Amino acid sequence: MAAFGTVFTPEMILSRFSNDSWTEPQFVATDSISLHPGAHVLHYSSTCFEGLKAFKHADGSVYIFRMDKNVARLAQSSALLALPKFDPAMLSRMIVDIVGRYASEVPTPPGSMYIRPTHIGTEASIGKAAAPSLESMLYVLLSPVGDYFAGGAKPLRLLLEDNARCAPHMGMVKSGGNYASALQPIMKARAAVQADQVLFCPNGDVQETGAANFLLIDGNELITKALDASFLHGITRDSILTLARDRGMKVSERELTVDELLERAAKPGAEAALSGTAAVLTPVGTLIHNGKEYQVGNGQGGATTNALRQALNDIQWGKAADTHGWLTKVC
Ligand code: PLP
Ligand code: COI
Repeated sequence: MAAFGTVFTPEMILSRFSNDSWTEPQFVATDSISLHPGAHVLHYSSTCFEGLKAFKHADGSVYIFRMDKNVARLAQSSALLALPKFDPAMLSRMIVDIVGRYASEVPTPPGSMYIRPTHIGTEASIGKAAAPSLESMLYVLLSPVGDYFAGGAKPLRLLLEDNARCAPHMGMVKSGGNYASALQPIMKARAAVQADQVLFCPNGDVQETGAANFLLIDGNELITKALDASFLHGITRDSILTLARDRGMKVSERELTVDELLERAAKPGAEAALSGTAAVLTPVGTLIHNGKEYQVGNGQGGATTNALRQALNDIQWGKAADTHGWLTKVC
């Protein structure tokens, strides 16, 4: 199986903004765009993106999961980066049109079609370090995918890091610069302690990893950081919290400190997991902090994590009723 996100459909769909208007979205070849070397995005990182998925149901029909939420988040990221405003209805149409065109290439479960809407500032102006790009490009890439983590659902090892993932006011923006600023800590954690991911906990505040949100499960309670500007408001996080509430679990969105996490994670039956479009819900088996390793529960993931992942997949795969109206039918 090819690595996650390395295979693309031959076409994407693209619209450009200039002179205060958007061009009619067009299908274009995926393997190239033309960009001025002085484009704003290449110098001042005016870029944001989304990650969502389309699923194939047993009867061959294709559905997109929570598209409205992802479109709204890209609109919010664009606004926070002072990129040109787009009509959410236009982007939704672009997504449905490109997925519909490549519906036959949407993998069957457990695979899916990963959808990557991207918005970049294209104005050729290297003087605009402190001014927004007045031109931009919005495109939607498609990539048929399987599991994000190479080990499948094998419990992950996380290194708890005292620094932040990114600037505190940028965490809720899904922007390339945030991933760049997290890269060195993640590479160091891999090399030093064979960690799969870093859990960023500035000043003891348990926030998120480089590409997923963090959830602690202790008996019937699910605990995760309450929404603020410092981290990404995951749509999988929101879905899992909803499914946990549906099952009668207590959902606590509040501050979680490293001390409390290490104490509660050690209890028998405790579970921890990462949630994200790519990660789905992946169990965490080990936390590493200040040179010490802490096993989460029995270190093997647990029944609640599995049940919540299954409940999410069942809706995505059309095996359970879509009671929350999360699916958009493409064809
Ligand atoms: N946090 C970060 C930094 C991410 O990159 C992602 C992945 O998209 C998430 C959280 C989870 O967000 P979502 O569930 O919307 O995919
Ligand atoms: C996603 O889950 O959609 C992400 O954005 C993670 C990723 C950077 C592969």
